[in-house]
Amino acid sequence: MSQTPFEQVESLRIGTVEFVSPDEVKVGLDIAAPDSVALNTGGPRPFPRVNGYLLVPVDDGFLVGQTEWMTIERSPFPKRRGMQDFGLVDLPYPLRRLSLNPLGTLRTARDGNGYVFRRGADALPSVGAAVVLPTDLQLRSIVESGEGRRVKIGTSPLAGDARVFVDPNRLFGRHLAVLGNTGSGKSCSVAGLIRWSVEQARETCGGTPNARFIVLDPNGEYSRAFSNNDPTIQARIFKVNPGEGEKALKVPLWFWNSAEWCSFTQASAKTQRPTLMHALRFVRDGHTTPTGDASHEMRRFLRTLVTTIRIEQNAGSPWAAFPKPKSFFEKLEKWKIGLEDELSSFAGDQQARLQALIDKLEELCAPRRGQYPHYDFTRQEVQDLLTTTSEAYSVFGGAEADILPSDVDAPRPFEGASLLRSVEAAAEMLNVSEYVETLLVRIRSLLTDSRMKPILGGVSDTTLDEWLTDYIGSNNAESGCVSVIDLSLVPTEVVHVVTAVIARMTFEALQRYVKLNGVTLPTVLVMEEAHTFIKRYKEDLENQDAATICCQVFERIAREGRKFGLGLVLSSQRPSELSPTVLSQCNTFLLHRISNDRDQDLVRRLVPDNLRGLLRELPSLPSQTAILLGWASELPVLVRMNDLPRSQQPRSDDPDFWGVWIGEDEDGQKISRDVDWARVAHHWQEAPESGSEGEA
Ligand SMILES: Nc1ncnc2c1ncn2[C@@H]1O[C@H](COP(=O)(O)OP(=O)(O)OP(=O)(O)O)[C@@H](O)[C@H]1O
Ligand SMILES: [Mg+2]
Repeated sequence: MSQTPFEQVESLRIGTVEFVSPDEVKVGLDIAAPDSVALNTGGPRPFPRVNGYLLVPVDDGFLVGQTEWMTIERSPFPKRRGMQDFGLVDLPYPLRRLSLNPLGTLRTARDGNGYVFRRGADALPSVGAAVVLPTDLQLRSIVESGEGRRVKIGTSPLAGDARVFVDPNRLFGRHLAVLGNTGSGKSCSVAGLIRWSVEQARETCGGTPNARFIVLDPNGEYSRAFSNNDPTIQARIFKVNPGEGEKALKVPLWFWNSAEWCSFTQASAKTQRPTLMHALRFVRDGHTTPTGDASHEMRRFLRTLVTTIRIEQNAGSPWAAFPKPKSFFEKLEKWKIGLEDELSSFAGDQQARLQALIDKLEELCAPRRGQYPHYDFTRQEVQDLLTTTSEAYSVFGGAEADILPSDVDAPRPFEGASLLRSVEAAAEMLNVSEYVETLLVRIRSLLTDSRMKPILGGVSDTTLDEWLTDYIGSNNAESGCVSVIDLSLVPTEVVHVVTAVIARMTFEALQRYVKLNGVTLPTVLVMEEAHTFIKRYKEDLENQDAATICCQVFERIAREGRKFGLGLVLSSQRPSELSPTVLSQCNTFLLHRISNDRDQDLVRRLVPDNLRGLLRELPSLPSQTAILLGWASELPVLVRMNDLPRSQQPRSDDPDFWGVWIGEDEDGQKISRDVDWARVAHHWQEAPESGSEGEA
């Protein structure tokens, strides 16, 4: 480069600033400016190009603008540089104009080598200033400056194929949303981001990186992209029907917390939910089967009484309107009979305390037994009853701490059958047996469903720490950096609960990790087809179905995950259907082609006004090309993602109609599709337990 900077600017000049405002700069193009390709920048470059970059020299650098639109205006006064048209009659002449969005400033680097780009324009040009084409180096610097350029994800066609790098800390740390129409390349981008990040980390640290990616894969696409015996990225694949080198998907029912149980069983808020809570607390304490130890059993019984009285007391039922007091009275009667039956098994202090409790119950019940009694209890009566019951409870060795409801969600193992028994027992004790039939039916059908059995497993199938090691990864991620959880064969009735449980267990495990270690264990939770799991829902506290519970788990992760090192990556083709809470917590967006109006509106609202120009390209983006914007990118860039070889792409092939019709695929390979409906019919009608084909 023998040109002085001034000469250089002059040779690349394409026009003049005609209008300046903080968010728009209008430019009149010189007549001699190129009209399709500029050749003087170091290589052929399309110019003028919408969304292309142009520079305006200001104080000590250049203002970088992105072309938003261009047009032709007929001007009665042609302006030709170097020519003065005094006295000449001239014909109207077409003049080209374009508009620039100011993006930032490009300055010479401190060491004199190249340029540094910074967002924000602190000096605006004035009218009459020259507008120039950036040189190749300048163009690349716009995209390539910034810190933490660690993982290359692609190149930018608008910026001279500058290499686009991202910083995983930024990309994954504050949640990433990958949005776009079907077939626009989302899954490939997601698989690529995981692969390129892990590969780069492996190269940098020279061994297996301590990285953790958990992919929730509702369509079963990712088992092709990642595999167990991939030497660079070892992955664990979890499936309902595991094949060679894959593991069985297990989400034991004892992992489910009370909200998940309630939503799955659609337990009614009034009677079934409290019963289910009691029952869960029983089974989680291991008090599932009668131990034969009478005092142990009595302690449990008394604890339930204490909890129940407290619940009723807080709800104010004993002095509420009819029939609540009556139902409280009936409970007391029932408890009294239960206690009288057991009284003879105890002696000494224990017996005395029980007797005192029976007397107390009798004292409360007697006046309410006659004809047309009034059932109302006074607050004092209920308080006294509570005191007497608590005293009996402590004589049997009960501790106040055990009454607290905190342990109802602890993932302690129990068998499904014990839960059933426990629900029955709890209903009996709460005197609501006739109201829990539907609850029992739902739990029973869950337990007997042969499709669920392998997923829910028994107590001995897995322990909590084995599960965490499997799904979140072992120490130093020695067992591989990626777990793919294939949800495609999980029965639809439970897929939401199963997903919610996996996500919540991951989140809570990482929360505990921080509590115990004081530092986070960075983990990325990837959600394909996110609209299946985080659909907008109606706020309804009474009836929360499994889909709502599932969405709420992800909302919680979106809000709090960052503090515990859990990053979300979600991919969806229907952004307008996603939960706004989750979407608004995503700080980085990778936008593929989006043609639908509503979805475009939605993403447009996510970016500041002066950057919207680039988003107008959304409907016309080719696949594999996307716009990266947000926290992970200094400025919105158009990226052509790295090529992902076919064997590393998620499987999402369209059905090959033509190939099947003509019996040959594109490579000349024979395709055959034998049809044997008898086999299908047999498989369909077969009772699942008896047929081994169910597992085939
Ligand atoms: N980075 C890439 N490298 C190679 N091919 C790609 C890449 N990105 C996209 N493609 C091509 O585009 C096709 C569609 O991509 P992909 O399956 O990722 O789309 P999608 O957006 O996930 O679609 P859907 O919403 O239906 O799941 C792929 O089969 C592949 O041929
Ligand atoms: Mg996909």
